[in-house]
Amino acid sequence: MDVRKLRDAGFQALKRAEVLELLQASGPAQEELFRWARDVRREEGLDDVTLRGVIEVSNVCRKSCDYCAMRAPNPHLSRYELKPDHILELAGAIRQAGIGVVMLQSGEHPRHEELLDTVIPVLRREFGLSVVLCMGEWDVEMFGKYRRMGADGYILKFETSDNVLYQRMTRNRRSRRIESVEWARAAGLQVGTGNMVGLPGQTLESVVDDIYLGAELKTDFISSSPFIPNPNTPYENHPSGDLGVTLNAIALYRIALRRPLIPSVSALETLKPDGQLQGLNAGANVITVNFTPREARNLYHIYSDHRFVVSLEHAQRTIERAGLRPRKSSPGADPVAV
Ligand code: 5AD
Repeated sequence: MDVRKLRDAGFQALKRAEVLELLQASGPAQEELFRWARDVRREEGLDDVTLRGVIEVSNVCRKSCDYCAMRAPNPHLSRYELKPDHILELAGAIRQAGIGVVMLQSGEHPRHEELLDTVIPVLRREFGLSVVLCMGEWDVEMFGKYRRMGADGYILKFETSDNVLYQRMTRNRRSRRIESVEWARAAGLQVGTGNMVGLPGQTLESVVDDIYLGAELKTDFISSSPFIPNPNTPYENHPSGDLGVTLNAIALYRIALRRPLIPSVSALETLKPDGQLQGLNAGANVITVNFTPREARNLYHIYSDHRFVVSLEHAQRTIERAGLRPRKSSPGADPVAV
C-alpha cells in the first residue's frame, strides 16, 4: 500500500477498500498514516494538547450493556454516588492543577439529575471551568436544561455503527443514541462521540463504517477506544481490542474530520505502556487526568480492575515526550472553549 499516494488524493477520494487497508496498516505504512494525521492536526492549528480533569461521579447505571461492569444487573459491584460538596472540592483541585475543563462521567440513571442541578452552575460560574458531561442518555429537554445551567459539552459514544451488534450488546436502539447526540447539539452543546474497537462479533468492515459514521456526524470531539474485558460481564473472557487498529482509527478520524478534539484514552495505556503516547503520535490532542478519589475509582469499572489511572504528571510527561505542549488555559478568568 502506498500511503503517500492515497494521501495526495485526500480522504474524500479514498475507496472503502483503501480505508479498510489503512485500518490494518502496520510498520512503515502505519508510520506514514500517523504522519498524515499529525500533519492534519498541525495544519489545523491543533497541536496543543487539551487537558481535561475527569470526576467519575457515580457508578449507578440503569443500563445492561454487555461490555460494562457498571451494568445494572451486576450484583458484585458496590454502588456509589459522590456528594456535591465532594465534587466541588475535586473541581477545586482540577482548577489548582491549571486545567480548564472538568468532565463529569457516570453510569446512566435519572437519579443523577439532582446532583447535576446542584453542581453544574457552581462549576461554571464560581470555578470558571468548562463543563463536559458523559452521563448517558436523557430526554430531549434535559440537554437544553443543562446547557442553560452552564454545561458546554456532552459526550455520547455511538460505540459501534453495527446496528445489530449495538442492539444485542446494549438492548437499546442505536438510532436513539444518534438522536441524543443531535438533541445535545441542537441544545447548543458541543458534542462528542466515538467507537470501541474489538467488540465481540465486530468486524473490521464495521470499524470502517465507524470512521464514515464519525465523518458524517461531524462532532466536536471523537474518540476511538480499545474494548477492555470487564469482570462480571458477559464479555469478561473476550480478548481486548487491538492497539494497532485503534491507533489507526484515531488517525483516520483525524484525517477524515480534521478539526475535532480527539482524546488519547487511558485504555490505550491499559493495553500497553506508552499507549497514550502512541495515541498522540496518531493524531490525538486531548488527555484526561483522573481526579476521582481512590475508593470510588476502584468501583468505576469500565476499564476493568487493572485500569491505568492517568495522573497529571503522567499526562504532562506523555505530552512532552510526544513533542507537544499542553494548551494554555486560565481557569477562572477565561473558561476554555472545549
Ligand atoms: N472497554 C472499553 N470501553 C468501555 N466503555 C465502557 N465499557 C468499556 C469497556 N469494557 C466506554 C464506552 C462508554 C464509555 C463511557 O466507556 O464507550 O461509552
